[in-house]
Amino acid sequence: MNVFAVVTGCTDGIGKAYCHELAKDGLSIVLISRSLEKLNSVAEEIKSLYKVDTAIIQADFSEGRSLYSRIKEQLAGKEIGVLINNVGVMIPYPKLYEEITEEEIWRHINVNMGSVAAMMSIIMPQMLARGKGAVVNIASIAAYGPMPMLSIYAASKAFVEFLSRAVACDYFMRRGITVQTVTPCYVSTNMTSFSKYTHSTNLFIPTPAQFAASAVSSIGYTDYTTGYWTHGIQCQLLLRQLLLLCQHLQCQLLLRQLLLLCQLLLLCQHLQRQLLLRQLHMKGLSCIDVNNQRLSEEYGPHLRLVPFSLIMAPILANPEALHAARLYCRAPQGAAALGPLSSVSCCPRAAVLSKLLPSGRSPQ
Ligand SMILES: NC(=O)c1ccc[n+]([C@@H]2O[C@H](COP(=O)([O-])OP(=O)(O)OC[C@H]3O[C@@H](n4cnc5c(N)ncnc54)[C@H](OP(=O)(O)O)[C@@H]3O)[C@@H](O)[C@H]2O)c1
Repeated sequence: MNVFAVVTGCTDGIGKAYCHELAKDGLSIVLISRSLEKLNSVAEEIKSLYKVDTAIIQADFSEGRSLYSRIKEQLAGKEIGVLINNVGVMIPYPKLYEEITEEEIWRHINVNMGSVAAMMSIIMPQMLARGKGAVVNIASIAAYGPMPMLSIYAASKAFVEFLSRAVACDYFMRRGITVQTVTPCYVSTNMTSFSKYTHSTNLFIPTPAQFAASAVSSIGYTDYTTGYWTHGIQCQLLLRQLLLLCQHLQCQLLLRQLLLLCQLLLLCQHLQRQLLLRQLHMKGLSCIDVNNQRLSEEYGPHLRLVPFSLIMAPILANPEALHAARLYCRAPQGAAALGPLSSVSCCPRAAVLSKLLPSGRSPQ
């Protein structure tokens, strides 16, 4: 029996490139998109290039809920191994919320958000029954924070990201099921054609084919990825990216963008702290996050001060994160467990606690 990959929004851009990549791997493809003519042409192209089966479902996702019973009927009887929730729309250029039409608002809700939620609930039951399957939900770097001028788009992508990551957790322990969230930066497609800065390909703006080749290789290895290596770097440099965005937007927006930067700075600190905690955890260290004041008796009589050499360079560059990184931890297996961190110093608990308490108070 043929195993199918279902790809939404597949007649152009990233979706079409995913179809090519998956067909290269021998998967038959169900193409779901809006324009019949383009659907037929992509289906033919894939069939002749990769000698796999294709099926098409013409669907306009902006129609909303009423659409899905028909999609479900047309998918019945097919073994679906992969679902790529790719379809997405964005306002044609950045604009203020008052300028976004009611039609655009509902299109974002139905296409970007509704499609992901509904398609997962149609297709995941058969994957769960078989104990096999991969779901890929395409969010965006726009989901990393509120975005003035792209408010409705960024918010819809935040929905995709949160839903996808939560569902990934739901099925984390089910062997064989993977739910991946992809948060790309710019890819050169129709969606980014509103500006030459976002559309011309370069090291940071791949073609859809380059992007999909890289993103497809990550399925099954990670459940959260930007999909492309330079996009990973861009996420680290998100603040700088937003400064560039500021330059593209009008001067009247500068203040708002600066406010946004402040929010993003906080977000980055949070992410960096999470990253550090995870790294420490992987090294077998129990951590106490001083910023959270989560001190507890259970951490034993001695605490160790983790030297800052453990912390990655980008974190070092950020004084707030550096402060957050002043973690006191203990190494359950002794100093040897710290490996290269030979300079770890051992502080009596009282000395550590006294740094955390208001001056003049000593720990009990
Ligand atoms: N490009 C980027 O830089 C970028 C960055 C981050 C995230 N993303 C996300 O990646 C996904 C793909 O984006 P893209 O840049 O490849 O977009 P794209 O080039 O504009 O292609 C969108 C595809 O979706 C189809 N589509 C649009 N509206 C539809 C509707 N109402 N019903 C059914 N199909 C519809 C289009 O069909 P037609 O050909 O009929 O229009 C087309 O095949 C989106 O979810 C987007 O948010 C893109």
